[in-house]
Amino acid sequence: MTADFRHFYQKNWDERVAIVTEQAHLTPDEQALFKQYYVPQHHEIIENYLTDYPLPMGLAVNFVIDGINRIVPMVTEEPSVIAAASNGAKIMKRGGGITTTLNQREMIGQVVLEKVKDPAAVAAMVTKHASTLLTVANEAHPSLQERGGGARRIRPRDLGQGYLSIDLFVDVQEAMGANMLNSMLEAVSKAIAVMTKQDSLMSILSNYATASLVKAACDIPVELLQAGRYSGELVAQKIASASMVAHIDPYRAATHNKGIMNGIDAVAIASGNDWRALESGAHAYAVKNGQYRGMSRWMTNGKILHGELEMPLPVGIVGGSIKINELAQLNQRLLGVKSAGDLERIMVAVGLAQNLAALRALVTTGIQQGHMHLQLKTLAMAAGATDDELSTVLQRLELAPQQDLATTQRIITELRQAKEETDD
Ligand code: HMG
Repeated sequence: MTADFRHFYQKNWDERVAIVTEQAHLTPDEQALFKQYYVPQHHEIIENYLTDYPLPMGLAVNFVIDGINRIVPMVTEEPSVIAAASNGAKIMKRGGGITTTLNQREMIGQVVLEKVKDPAAVAAMVTKHASTLLTVANEAHPSLQERGGGARRIRPRDLGQGYLSIDLFVDVQEAMGANMLNSMLEAVSKAIAVMTKQDSLMSILSNYATASLVKAACDIPVELLQAGRYSGELVAQKIASASMVAHIDPYRAATHNKGIMNGIDAVAIASGNDWRALESGAHAYAVKNGQYRGMSRWMTNGKILHGELEMPLPVGIVGGSIKINELAQLNQRLLGVKSAGDLERIMVAVGLAQNLAALRALVTTGIQQGHMHLQLKTLAMAAGATDDELSTVLQRLELAPQQDLATTQRIITELRQAKEETDD
């Protein structure tokens, strides 16, 4: 039987739990999980709210960014990400730290016109009346100008096939600015429709945030990269080669960039930012020249390994869910950020450190040694190992031909049986 989900959003919390319980035949223990993580205020954030879904939060350390020591809260479910970020940052710190560059911080929105017969003429008309349109945009969100921001410029772009995009560039100050930008765009869209007599298809911000680029760079003396039997010089060469492979091969580039986003998403979540927006912008930027490539570049002259990462990071430190998320606010204090630009600089630096650690592991011991060691810990905990049993279980698991849940449970059972026999 299927429970009745009509008007689910109008039900109170007890009613929702009752409906889900009926549908999925939940046990009292399962229902208790809803209660355990329930935060009444979170009805205000999403629809059909049931409960919160906790994710682990930890602290990446060792970051020196533009000469400032930073600790970096990260929220992630993946073992070894925080260790790797701290590891990369430690190597970079010993090399003098990470420097960042941020020239511009504007959000871009689009009003898309359709069935445009003469795009050049419409574009010219929009350009001619740009200052009127900027005024319309600013009047749709006057408080932004009062805070020193506002609509800055307009760029028509012929998309072909009768579509013309009118791009609006807005200085959103310390917010990510999606809502204010969308209000401005809707006002501008109406004005453009009246002015040009063209049909407006839609108005929405673009996550391809090419006016919010930020760059991190580092120079690392190669001897700091030495790993086991691999000399620092060799590791530097191999990291540069790995970077080249990510530049020429989209299969490798996707994984290379996933590693970078491991860190950036974790800081985005910890600081209350929209990581989906950052993901889509990052991957769009990775294909800006027509081929999907690794976002970072590493090169060496035999003495120094130079690394760079440039990407769009349109983040905010106010607005959105941040104002009701106390942990996001606390994390911003831990990060020591005074502006959205500060946060962008930290996030791009984390991406570069994450990438360095992953590449260094990949081209030397392989990723499994460090990553799997930490992954095995998660496995052992999931299989029910107690704190006292953990180190023995890990030692046996590392030697086991298969490292899965069944094997781990078998190891724990054997360990407990052996202990019982000894106790007897
Ligand atoms: P290690 O060589 O054993 O580290 O590395 P170490 O003992 O030399 O320690 C160096 C620093 O790393 C420490 O400094 C810590 O900051 C940190 P210290 O505090 O000692 O002065 N560190 C740790 N922090 C927290 N917990 C720990 C820990 N161990 C070291 N347990 C490590 C071990 C795992 C860090 C190293 O092997 C590593 O960086 N591996 C990379 C792991 C990685 O990238 N994981 C991400 C998930 S895999 C993935 O999805 C991405 C990928 O596919 C991307 C790609 O393909 O490009 C790989």
